[in-house]
Amino acid sequence: MPERSTYDVALSFADEARPYVHPIAEELRRRKVRVFYDRYETVAAWGKDLKPFLGDVFYQRSTYVVVFVSKKYASNEWTKHELRSALARAAKERREYILPVRIDNTRLRGLSNTIGYLDIRKYDARSIADHIALKLKTNSHLEPSEIVEAEPDTPVKPGKYFPLAIKPMAARRQGSVWQAPFYNIKTRTGRLVEIDVTSSAAHLPPNRALQEFVIPLFRREGVRRVIDCGAGSLRHTLALLQAGFDVCAVEFEHSFGRNLAAEALGKAKRFPGFSILRPDEFLRTSAQFDAALLCYVLQIMPIPKERHLVIHALRTKLGGRSYLLYAGTCNRFSGSYFATKAQRVSDGYFLWGHRNIQTFYREFSSRETDRMFRRVGFEKVNSLSRRRAEQVFLYRTEGNAVLSATGAATRPR
Ligand SMILES: C[S@@+](CC[C@H](N)C(=O)[O-])C[C@H]1O[C@@H](n2cnc3c(N)ncnc32)[C@H](O)[C@@H]1O
Repeated sequence: MPERSTYDVALSFADEARPYVHPIAEELRRRKVRVFYDRYETVAAWGKDLKPFLGDVFYQRSTYVVVFVSKKYASNEWTKHELRSALARAAKERREYILPVRIDNTRLRGLSNTIGYLDIRKYDARSIADHIALKLKTNSHLEPSEIVEAEPDTPVKPGKYFPLAIKPMAARRQGSVWQAPFYNIKTRTGRLVEIDVTSSAAHLPPNRALQEFVIPLFRREGVRRVIDCGAGSLRHTLALLQAGFDVCAVEFEHSFGRNLAAEALGKAKRFPGFSILRPDEFLRTSAQFDAALLCYVLQIMPIPKERHLVIHALRTKLGGRSYLLYAGTCNRFSGSYFATKAQRVSDGYFLWGHRNIQTFYREFSSRETDRMFRRVGFEKVNSLSRRRAEQVFLYRTEGNAVLSATGAATRPR
């Protein structure tokens, strides 16, 4: 097990950047992030030989290092020492360790130009602190943890905090659900927020549980046709195609406007077993499948009834004893961390207050998820969660369950 770090994040900067860095440190402290910022360490550093002390902080006592890249940073002996220590650690890590924030366009020796960075000219202190806190939440599995089954820290009580007017866009008002990925929703404070559900798709490797557990299981069970509902940038679709399954991806066309997703679509189209349906076509298709994926989709759907509609539609397209892999996250963006009242919409929230187009998030307890699936005749057969912020569950259709018109499952007597 990794040793728990003393700091969540250590800030490395030249003095010229202090006017930017100080408010970020304050924002982090307010969020209860354990931050190494020189002004908070006067007592700890007093009397110590600073070179080994700082080397230790930037090499091994922090979970992340944020480097504020500036002209003076490149020439100052102390910052160069901090960067060398951080780079030595980064070389050992199999994840991002140094998070650059650019004050200007200076190039730092050893820090690749292709590393993703935040530009101080585009984000205020609060927003940078949000990004850092989000990184910490996302990688919370790096901390020692006994927890396998994740639950939200702050369970949301539907209806209690969010008695809001939901105003879907024109397409929806005309009665055609899911022709477009956009939702216009009013927050409690009356602001009209545009949610684009396709903006939630990440470019990550396929979920490990799929590779290590689910694909072998599908093979053993003789699965041929899999439906990947809310396929995003097709990371799971491609993994399944490569493993020899026929895969139908359900996704909005708008999602493939982005380069990486368009590239993935090009790759998928080379497999004869690949097909694609828009979400509205998915609702109408009579095609049947042997297994389904619903990975990181329910959390970003802002309308509760539509979540149910997705699960119900999947159930109708699967036969008896078919598997469904469900994945979600929780405690990544927990309410106490980010979402102010003004960011709450529907029964969830959006994150970045200053953006025009938002991604919606709603976390579910595993009990809630089980209830949603049980309602239409899925039973949970396994939890494949490995990380604290992760919920990966395998559901199976109950062989005898019959779906009523409302989607409620009843067992024939
Ligand atoms: C967070 S992404 C997850 C993508 C993919 N499953 C993965 O794990 O990488 C969620 C995706 O669900 C899609 N989505 C949202 N609402 C949907 C709906 N009603 N039907 C199908 N897909 C939907 C979004 O467009 C988005 O690409």
